[in-house]
Amino acid sequence: MRALTVRPGTSGTARVDELPDPVAGGGELLVEGLALGVCGTDREIVAGEYGWAPPGRDRLVLGHESLGRVRQAPDGSDFAAGDLVVGVVRRPDPVPCGACGHGEFDMCRNGRYTERGIKEIDGYAAQLWTVETGYAVKLDARLADVGMLMEPATVVAKAWEQVDRIGARSWYEPKRVLVTGAGPIGLLAALLGIQRGLDVHVLDRVTGGPKVDAATGLGATYHSGPVADVAGRLQPDVVVEATGAASVVVDAVGNTASYGITCLTGVSTPGRRISVDAGAGNREIVLDNDVVVGSVNANLRHYRAAAGALAAADLDWLRSLITRRVPLERFADALTAHPDDIKVVLTLAGGR
Ligand code: BGC
Repeated sequence: MRALTVRPGTSGTARVDELPDPVAGGGELLVEGLALGVCGTDREIVAGEYGWAPPGRDRLVLGHESLGRVRQAPDGSDFAAGDLVVGVVRRPDPVPCGACGHGEFDMCRNGRYTERGIKEIDGYAAQLWTVETGYAVKLDARLADVGMLMEPATVVAKAWEQVDRIGARSWYEPKRVLVTGAGPIGLLAALLGIQRGLDVHVLDRVTGGPKVDAATGLGATYHSGPVADVAGRLQPDVVVEATGAASVVVDAVGNTASYGITCLTGVSTPGRRISVDAGAGNREIVLDNDVVVGSVNANLRHYRAAAGALAAADLDWLRSLITRRVPLERFADALTAHPDDIKVVLTLAGGR
């Protein structure tokens, strides 16, 4: 079977390799890879800026936004051949830390967790892959061409859960959310906001094209002006920040309503300095009881929430997020960002 592999730490090493077909161990599914979502993390790994190969090896099979069809399932499991599944990204650290020991590996305290396609375990950019039944999640059969949106949806399901839990520390009835960034994470965060009945606003730099259509198609209000102006006018109860751009973060945090919650989901590039009035920021956060929280990855609870959110979403809207589908052989094209991209997907022409 063919798989997209990379030598982490060295740029320009991505290639399609012919690898032996994997064999499912006890308690594992054998899955035909259908498609794989490509994200900024994959681009960083391919650029040699992130990622770790499995111990004792120098190459890693890339890919963490999976979608596949079960070819073989263990007897007595909840899975059967033909089921549409995604594989969970993260595995608990071996100690395990308290959080991992409680199934909250997304909150790992010692950093020794592993991640498929990212950190020390092969990923899902392969025509055949295996996964432990406990780390596979079944998807509604009608999501066959969009199910690779599940992993980014789990990231926003976790982000919303963090917002809810933080909000619940006092009386809480949020009305308005501002989502900064209209990429897949931002638009899926907007979807979950709409599903909660909130007044959803989405802000990005573009003034037309698929991102604007996706935001308005959802029933959200789209904005493209300066963050401080838009947020200053809207005074959102919640901000879901999905750009990772330092100035956007600062302007969003500084313009929430009182008791505002800003959830940061974007991983930024270090080394870019901006000038900030830290005293004013501190004053606003303290006097308003604001919270700024970071959120990464997702545990099984969030996978279940995301599966429900995708099953309840309009299928054509989900399809509109996938702006390019590229065959595995043309991976270099998929890894090159185009201005109108929302989600780029690699098609794997599953199994044999
Ligand atoms: C993935 C997360 C992962 C994070 C850090 C993101 O792109 O969606 O699952 O935890 O990268 O490696």
